[in-house]
Amino acid sequence: MNVCIIGAGYVGLTTAAVLAKLGHTVHCIDENEQKIAALQRGEIPIYEPRLAELFTDHQSRLFFHHDGQKHIQEADVIFICVGTPPDVKGKPDVSYVNRAIDMLIPHVNDHQTLVMKSTVPIGTNERIYERLKNEGKHVRVVSNPEFLREGSAIYDSFHPDRIVIGLRDDDDRSLSIMQTLYAGIHAPYVVTSLSGAEMIKYAANAFLATKISFINEMARLCDTYGVEVVDVAKGIGLDGRIGPHFLQAGIGYGGSCFPKDVTALIQMAYEQMVRPYMLEATKAVNDTQINWYVQKMKRTLGELAGRRIAVLGIAFKPNTDDIRESPAVLLITKLHAHGADVIAHDPKATLPHDVAVKQAKTIDEAVKKADALIVATDWDAYKQLNWEEVKRMMNGNAVIDGRNSLPREAIINAGLHYIGVGRR
Ligand code: UDX
Repeated sequence: MNVCIIGAGYVGLTTAAVLAKLGHTVHCIDENEQKIAALQRGEIPIYEPRLAELFTDHQSRLFFHHDGQKHIQEADVIFICVGTPPDVKGKPDVSYVNRAIDMLIPHVNDHQTLVMKSTVPIGTNERIYERLKNEGKHVRVVSNPEFLREGSAIYDSFHPDRIVIGLRDDDDRSLSIMQTLYAGIHAPYVVTSLSGAEMIKYAANAFLATKISFINEMARLCDTYGVEVVDVAKGIGLDGRIGPHFLQAGIGYGGSCFPKDVTALIQMAYEQMVRPYMLEATKAVNDTQINWYVQKMKRTLGELAGRRIAVLGIAFKPNTDDIRESPAVLLITKLHAHGADVIAHDPKATLPHDVAVKQAKTIDEAVKKADALIVATDWDAYKQLNWEEVKRMMNGNAVIDGRNSLPREAIINAGLHYIGVGRR
């Protein structure tokens, strides 16, 4: 098929690579001229495992344009993959989506299918359909949210748990078009209304975020009772009704989706006059998790002012350079505000400019002479440290495992003091 993708961001580029690999011809359009020029030179603006390899392997079917009217007109399917960043109240700002529709309207025709991948407020796709119809464009509109995790987006695209397709009741063609487009990807289809698909996306992220906040709250309780939260997570996770995933306690969830989508759903609920008790609690636990952790550190280390603290990890999770809503950055900022002499490290991510903290080039440089070491992002490189070596380099002996992912025994055997989240 001939596919046009509007928006060469994280979702757009991943979708482009996956569809090219499935054999489709893909034209990616973005209003950012510099980004398109870089992509045309073969430079990829984001770090995502396997993306570069797919771009190289399928370059004969993958094109990037700043001005792509002709390709819009010739496309069978048009994907919208533009950002919906939160506005001041935390509601998704759909202005990029609206701009994309403005740009498309003169060029689309009745044979085409418009697929929404951007996470949009519930009701948006219905409104887009009505708008197109009022302009005399009887384009099919499909809501097809993505559930990709950064760092494993390509794997997730080829092995999704499900493919969600939202359609209008009178649309009898789009489902088979989407099945043809995704032929080769084996997953159950969930077919629902346009708004149903939008709601599924928010509900999925809100539920996963809730699981994390739940186990983080249990971790706080475990701390007071001297109970292992890791055992609790295992003990409840083996119950098939609960499931083992997203029960790793830590310094909280971050990234471009969970914080934004939980806040957005809360705002939508308020608009509908529904009090979102659960979502408020999920957000409240996450918003206070860093403070809770800093207090716990103070109890262990005493005063933080003047202490040299190495923070390993800046990205919001491993295998990405993304620092959006990163709990690690928040922790670094808080420690700095408490007067600690913080030095940060990350294999891929860079500290934002407004954080006046030194970033070390190597792990050794960060760890040397540190009074305490905190792992804030669970990169493999940190899990595999030589703890005897770490002990020799450090000034103090506190190893603080902000992700409960380090080998506790090895750390204790090296003569270091291990402090986890909700762990004895
Ligand atoms: C998430 C969803 O998983 C994905 O389906 C959706 O499309 C986008 O949002 P992503 O943000 O890439 O993906 O990362 P994910 O791996 O889900 O982690 C999100 C955050 O939760 C990270 O900060 C991570 O460290 C944290 N997390 C995750 C925990 O603290 N504990 C867990 O058990 C799992």
